[in-house]
Amino acid sequence: MPAKIAPSILSADFVNLERELGRIANADLVHVDVMDNHFVPNLTLGLPVVRRIAEVSPVPVDVHLMIEDADRWAPQFAHAGAASVTFHAEATQAPVRLARELRALGVRAGVALRPASPVEPFLDLLPEFDMVLVMTVEPGFGGQSFIDGTLPKIRRTRQAITDAGTDTWLQVDGGISRETIARVAQAGADVFVAGSAVYGADDAAAEVDALRDLAST
Ligand code: DX5
Ligand code: ZN
Repeated sequence: MPAKIAPSILSADFVNLERELGRIANADLVHVDVMDNHFVPNLTLGLPVVRRIAEVSPVPVDVHLMIEDADRWAPQFAHAGAASVTFHAEATQAPVRLARELRALGVRAGVALRPASPVEPFLDLLPEFDMVLVMTVEPGFGGQSFIDGTLPKIRRTRQAITDAGTDTWLQVDGGISRETIARVAQAGADVFVAGSAVYGADDAAAEVDALRDLAST
């Protein structure tokens, strides 16, 4: 699969979201970070904003839930117009049941792991998920530096996806830039979230293309 680039609007201008979405119309997805100040020490946006983003976005909306009680909330983001909903393994009581519920609502179901959370419990369950998100920073904030120690987890996950023969997407999120993306791609990731790298660039669309090229070489 060619690399997919998902700019994170966490680093966008929140007062001009429609314009900011227009700057990345060539991206594959737009990544929307939902935080509740409990699962992570930061607070961002919720359902009404996601609903409007989904209405005006030129690209599919990829929701990343960094919230407690994912079992209760994740389906509501499917109803809000997301194309994919990713919840944290650490914030659900029943990841497989939740993924099945999301799929039944017609969205792609993703499971996310903090850097210190093991991926192994999910490797036998890959057919239940459309995406695995290996966090490459501690979730909560944009602009942090990439944690190299996550690369072996990305390699193990890619190997398991190959062995299982599923088309599970392997997403990475945090510290992805022109400097880091090639080695993360080589480790096996195929969906790359990039916040500060894309929205910090003068030409965000050109940055999306540059990252996609670097991930594909
Ligand atoms: C962090 C969020 C990320 C964040 C990435 O918890 O999940 O999506 O926006 O930002 P950068 O690309 O700047 O590391
Ligand atoms: Zn994210």
